[in-house]
Amino acid sequence: MATYRSMILGCGPRARSHAEVYPELQGMELVACCDLDASRREQFQSDFSIPLAFDDYETALAEVQPDIVHVVTQPGRRIWEAECAGKAGVKACIIEKPLAVTPSEIVELERIRDLAKMKIAVNCQRRYFPQFRDGVIRDIIENKLGDVYLIRASTKGNLMSMGPHTMDLLLLIMGEADPIAVWAMAYGIDETGYKAHHRAPEHTFAQYWYEDGTRVLFDCDLDALGTPGETSFWMHLHFDVLGSKGRLYLTQNGGYWYQAEGMAEPEHGESSWDNQQTAGQRDFTQAVAEWLDGGKPHLNRFDVAKAGFNALIGALQSACEGRRVDLPHTFTDEQWEKYYGHLKSEHEASDEFRPA
Ligand SMILES: NC(=O)c1ccc[n+]([C@@H]2O[C@H](COP(=O)([O-])OP(=O)(O)OC[C@H]3O[C@@H](n4cnc5c(N)ncnc54)[C@H](O)[C@@H]3O)[C@@H](O)[C@H]2O)c1
Repeated sequence: MATYRSMILGCGPRARSHAEVYPELQGMELVACCDLDASRREQFQSDFSIPLAFDDYETALAEVQPDIVHVVTQPGRRIWEAECAGKAGVKACIIEKPLAVTPSEIVELERIRDLAKMKIAVNCQRRYFPQFRDGVIRDIIENKLGDVYLIRASTKGNLMSMGPHTMDLLLLIMGEADPIAVWAMAYGIDETGYKAHHRAPEHTFAQYWYEDGTRVLFDCDLDALGTPGETSFWMHLHFDVLGSKGRLYLTQNGGYWYQAEGMAEPEHGESSWDNQQTAGQRDFTQAVAEWLDGGKPHLNRFDVAKAGFNALIGALQSACEGRRVDLPHTFTDEQWEKYYGHLKSEHEASDEFRPA
């Protein structure tokens, strides 16, 4: 295996999960980091013993000429971030979710990827947790539950914060099938904190239809039915999969169980953010080097993330137009901007949301 030289753009809290796995990686070394914020940058460089640190991304790319760039910034400038990497000859970009926040961004990113012949992997690292990577969950769905007719997917984060992870796992659960239609409703806009960048309604409820007849109830909603036993906001993520012969209940951090015809008791398995996140991030990152070496295509390659993103945008289009929308969506940036403004003014005018 070749040795790939990596750089991390953005030294915030999430970047620490990217950096901490490097000592365990084969054929990959973390040679540089970059952040506008001097104190963050210096602390990060020192904590992870990174040889080089920069405050300017383009200078960093020119001087370091990395093979791999981790983009660990808030969304909003993904086109510029990817374009700079592509122009600098970067071989692979690992981009944090969400990959995009507007319909046109994903189209631009694909153009950049193709022009630069640069691989893009989106950091939905849960696919590298063993129960997903090794096909355990897919096996239960395909071979134990009979005909799956209804799935309930639930998370409290919004469509652009937890939506990408939820949709990514839903795609995997559905064997990478794209939904054929969606009907959604949405309300509320909050622009505080990370939500200023992860622009999406506070409350979105969508129903997706699939070619094989499966229906999915998809809840990305502050008020979504929580995951029993969870006390941490971000850990509220679960799937309830109902089939003609059984049921699978899968949580992000509280394990999973399934029970099918003929089983006296449910069978339990591990699904644990706390125990699996670090190894998942490590295996996710290692898989980028293997992909560059001509090995297996990355599980979170651009095309997979694009399918998930477009399904999420379909829900926005449906909520905006108040009707069932056949997919692929035809929503434009202009329509999204207008709808966002409408949601925001509706939110501001509502008594329910007015501070006491
Ligand atoms: N995959 C996961 O499980 C997971 C978990 C948490 C967060 N995230 C995602 O990770 C991303 C980053 O989250 P965070 O909380 O670390 O964000 P953050 O805003 O705290 O940190 C981002 C850093 O990037 C720096 N930065 C931004 N633009 C820059 C530029 N042009 N040049 C140099 N530095 C620049 C900022 O100064 C900041 O320090 C978000 O998209 C978030 O959704 C993913």
